[in-house]
Formats: sequence, C-alpha cells, structure tokens
Amino acid sequence: MNVESYFSKNIKAALQNDPPGAWMPELPEDCIRLSSGYPDPALMPVEELKDAAARLLDEEKDLPLHYLGSPRVQGLKQQILKRLAERGIYVREDQLLITSGACQAIDLIARILLDEQAVVAVEEPTYMEALEIFKNYTNQIIGIPVDEDGIQTVRFEDILEERKQAGLTLPRFLYTIPTFQNPTGTTLTTERRKHLLELSTKFDFLILEDDAYGELAFGESPQTLKSLDKQGKVLHAGSLSKVVAPGMRIGWVAADSGFIKALEWFKKDLDHPFAQSTMTVYLEKIDFQNRLGHLKDVYRAKCDVLIRSLEQFLPESVSWYVPKGGYFVWIRIPDADTSQLLSEALDKGVSYIPGKYFFLDQQDRSEFLRLSFSHADEKDIIEGIRRLGEVLY
Ligand SMILES: Cc1ncc(COP(=O)(O)O)c(C=O)c1O
Repeated sequence: MNVESYFSKNIKAALQNDPPGAWMPELPEDCIRLSSGYPDPALMPVEELKDAAARLLDEEKDLPLHYLGSPRVQGLKQQILKRLAERGIYVREDQLLITSGACQAIDLIARILLDEQAVVAVEEPTYMEALEIFKNYTNQIIGIPVDEDGIQTVRFEDILEERKQAGLTLPRFLYTIPTFQNPTGTTLTTERRKHLLELSTKFDFLILEDDAYGELAFGESPQTLKSLDKQGKVLHAGSLSKVVAPGMRIGWVAADSGFIKALEWFKKDLDHPFAQSTMTVYLEKIDFQNRLGHLKDVYRAKCDVLIRSLEQFLPESVSWYVPKGGYFVWIRIPDADTSQLLSEALDKGVSYIPGKYFFLDQQDRSEFLRLSFSHADEKDIIEGIRRLGEVLY
C-alpha cells in the first residue's frame, strides 16, 4: 500500500526532509555525550517527584488519573505565574497556556500563525527542532545571522527594509532565543533587545521568544523581551525541561489573551494532567530559588571546565563564544568539515553535533560544531575534549 498517497499536502512536503535527528548516528557504548542538550542526570529530582506523585495519589486517589485530572492542574498556572514574575513578566491567568513542553508551544504558535503564504524569520543558526516545525507549515523561512551578541538586529532591519522596497511579504513573526541561545550560547544585548522591539512595531511582526534556558544564568539574568514589550507583540515560550525534568513535558506560552484563546482551541485535550498535578505538588513543596541556585553553580562549574579543556586540548586556530548561562558552547574550527570528523570522534568515544544542522542552508557551514556541558560530569567533559583534541590535531 502506498501510504504516502493518504498524507496531507503539508505533511508530504515535510516528509521530503530527513526525519528529525536522522543525521545523528547511534552513539557507541561508553561514548562521552557532549552532543545532547540533556540535563545533568544527578540534578533530576527523582525522590522529590516520587514523593509528589505518591502524595497526590494518597490524597486524591483516582482523581488525578481522570481526563480532567486533579484540581491541582489549575494550581500549576499559579506556580508558572510565579516563575514568570521572576523573569519580570506579569501576566494574568488568561494570558497563560500550559503546554506539553516548549516544543508544543512552538508548534501551536506556528499552527495558528503560519500558512503557505506566511514568512517566518529565524536566527541562523537556530534550534533545529523549531526549524523542523516551521517547515511543516511554510517553506518561506528567512535566516538572520547571529554573532557573539545574539541576532544582528541592524542586519535584520536591512533585510526587512529590502523586502519592503521589493514588495516582498514581511515576516509574520521572528523566532528568537535571546538568552543563552541554542546552539551558540550567546545572549542578545539590551540595546539589541530594544532595537528588535522597535523593529517589530516598525515592520509589524510578532516575536516568538523562546526562553527555555533563561533561568540558567551564571551571573545576572538579562531582561526578557516579553518584560520589555509594551505593544503585546511578544509571545513568550518557556519550559521546565531544563530546570526540572524534560520527561514531565511541561512548558507554556505567555501572550495576549487573544492568542491564548486560539492556542487553547487547537490544543484541546493534548495535556498530561497527571504530570501537571504532580509538578504542582513538587513546586508547592520545594524552594525553587534554592534549587535554581544549585543548578547554576553546577552548570557554571561544568562550563568553566569545558572552556579550560578547550584551551588546553584544542589547536590554537579553534575559537568559541564563552556563554553566560544555558547548556551550550559553539565552536569554530577553520577549514574543518565537522560532519566528516564526527565518525572519527565517535570512534574515539566523544559526540558533538555538527553545526550545519542548525542552519537553513547547510552549505558552507561545516566549520562549526555544538558542544553541551550539561549532561556529562566534569571528569568526562575533560576526557571528552581531550579525545576531541586528538581528532583535530
Ligand atoms: C531552544 C529550545 N527550545 C525548546 C526546547 C524544547 O523544550 P521542551 O522540552 O520544553 O519541549 C529546547 C530543548 O532542547 C531548546 O533547546
């Protein structure tokens, strides 16, 4: 049977692309994983979540297991509103939607805002899964370059001006990760944040701010775009994946209530009430600021170890951005082809992600790679970079 003949037009086009992650070979056993943006296994709150789930079932019996779930599902919104206030975002309940991770937030936003005629602007490089999501809805995606201070807003303004002059469609929204970006680890300066918001008014587009790593600042946390936004142009997506546990699948969108209503409409019952109410019990009980302080200490120390190892083991010609938070370091190896080198690195027992997969047009992007310091422990980070050094010399 030709199953493809049954697929929708959009899906047929999307299926022309490689499946998500297909380019990453299976990692050999004992391979040091510097590729994935996974949290540190030692930081997973296993006991606390076990206690929260047990308490929930003890107190509420079958209630959390029904479609509607526990009344504590509603309590999660209160907890997220508290997290948002810490990021300088003060919204009401009707301006917040809980989603199954930030990925569902991105997908739902794409679903309500994009069609084949729509143009979406993204940073280049950017989070590859967001690129894959957008490609399901439109093939009109434009890339705006990122440097060590985040997206180049002056270049963006030029591109918008050129499109306007040429009578081309302007973007419906810009997808940006302004704080501890994936994959470059860079942070947008305050000046550029303000410029971006000015541009969104001048050229009338929305901004999808992905703040998945925003709470993980090694020093001061920069102001979110949403907290600076006076016009309601920013849809702010967040997640507990990087600070609690990705398997709980809890994220959100904070935006004007008109957007939230439309997003809610399409989301329907695609919720995880049990995970949500367990998370509420967990968040009600713990001192989150204290936990966050600990996460920041651990990730700051691991990042330092990674940077020192890069200085020690990699050739002089290799360069990188030093991140101020998050999970990633972006590396440039002049004249290298990092996709070609990957199999050699895996043979030596270390993994990374070739940088080209984070670009729209993968041609001529072979000099970059992304390393993550979040998952491996300090000893493995040092050994992993030593092995990478062997590949590069
Ligand atoms: C920038 C960015 N946004 C969103 C996500 C996905 O988050 P979630 O697990 O909440 O879907 C990730 C995960 O790697 C990410 O790097």
